[in-house]
Amino acid sequence: MTGASDDRGQWSSKVGFILAASGSAIGLGNIWRFPYVAGENGGAVFVVLYLIFVFLIGLPYMFAELALGRSVQKNPVGAINAIKPNSAWKLVGYLGVFTGVGILSFYGVVAGWTFGYIFKMIAGNVSGFGEYIANPWLVIFLFAVFMLLTTLIVYGGVEGGIERWSKILMPMLFVLLVGLIIYANTLEGASKGLAFYLKPDFSKISGSTAISALGQAFFSLSLGMGLMITYGSYVSKKENLVTSAVYIAVFDTLIAFFAGLIIFPTLFAMGKSPDQGPTLVFVVLPELFAKMPGGFFVGALFFILLSVAALTSTISLLEVPVAFMVDERKSKRKKIVWAVAGFTFLIGIPSALSQGASDFFSNFHLLPERLSGQDFLSHMSFVFGDFSLAFGALMLSIFVGWVWGAKNASDEIQEGAPGFAKSRKIWGFLIRWFIPIVVFLILLNLFGVFG
Ligand code: PHE
Repeated sequence: MTGASDDRGQWSSKVGFILAASGSAIGLGNIWRFPYVAGENGGAVFVVLYLIFVFLIGLPYMFAELALGRSVQKNPVGAINAIKPNSAWKLVGYLGVFTGVGILSFYGVVAGWTFGYIFKMIAGNVSGFGEYIANPWLVIFLFAVFMLLTTLIVYGGVEGGIERWSKILMPMLFVLLVGLIIYANTLEGASKGLAFYLKPDFSKISGSTAISALGQAFFSLSLGMGLMITYGSYVSKKENLVTSAVYIAVFDTLIAFFAGLIIFPTLFAMGKSPDQGPTLVFVVLPELFAKMPGGFFVGALFFILLSVAALTSTISLLEVPVAFMVDERKSKRKKIVWAVAGFTFLIGIPSALSQGASDFFSNFHLLPERLSGQDFLSHMSFVFGDFSLAFGALMLSIFVGWVWGAKNASDEIQEGAPGFAKSRKIWGFLIRWFIPIVVFLILLNLFGVFG
């Protein structure tokens, strides 16, 4: 894909597209967010719900975003406007663009922690995560560095960057995770962690488990804010959207599942509790590395790979508002990249200060405890990362299923994927009825409607 000029580009190949879209999907959501949200929501029950949502809702919904993007070749606002000009539906597109900024503002903070941990591992220093993230200048500096890296890549166009790096580094991450799974499960007491993670106890289900699992499914697959509309707009008609989406969903889910197979056994072996919130991975993994022979080297490598995975996601998050401004507002790509990144950095500062640096942001207490942790970052993660994505997906599935029409969407999906002909009926049912109704009920439940 070229971004250096204002022309709309295309992915250079099918592999390039799958890598870029998986690069967006695979990130901190899999390795940082998935385990801590699972830990807060009863472990295995959450995992079961999550898997159901990924394959019954996330995957078929992904077809809809990709098809809409490829059909009209536009950003989320432009795409909606092309189908239904000057209607209120446009607001759904705006919501998506804004959600991208909202997610990036806290995601960049956590990516900064990850980046800083490379150096902490090299220095052989594993403890003191609490003080590390409570140091205001340090976290703001790391956040700024990460935003700068993201900006520089999006500035030059996504092209070479993602496509080339991902090809080598993502398989490396995969292999490293497999090695860590084996090691973690040899620790004494690890099996209790496996049971927590894999043996569902259905009495632990609560009203917020469903929204957390659904939100996490959308978050992890980068759905609900038009990212796949934007990335789909750079895909050629020859390509098979169905198999591409299946690859993305399977890769993404495997990586998250693997992360859990490392974290929970280690956690229980150390006798720690699973509901520690956003700091979980950073507290648990370094201690695992400290026990291993050559662990600091492995740890540094791990945080390098995780930083790259985060970078391919932050790039995609920045690309959505940038594509919108370039297409719709005729902004110059080079200027707007800096403006959007700078704005995102500013609204990310409260999140950066919310882990001990500022009392006010660390004990924010705006949302009820059953929905979100009490620090500002957890609030942002719930509002943008769960609620807004689920709401966006609800509106977009109605838009695609009823306004654009399941038939038009199916025709688009079928182009390049002739085998889809057999599944048109069932997909039409999913996008028009099943997905909107289930997502709506889960959102309704947030207000305590079903107790
Ligand atoms: N899917 C990314 C992750 O799991 C986060 C993301 C969400 C990226 C929404 C883009 C859009 O890390």
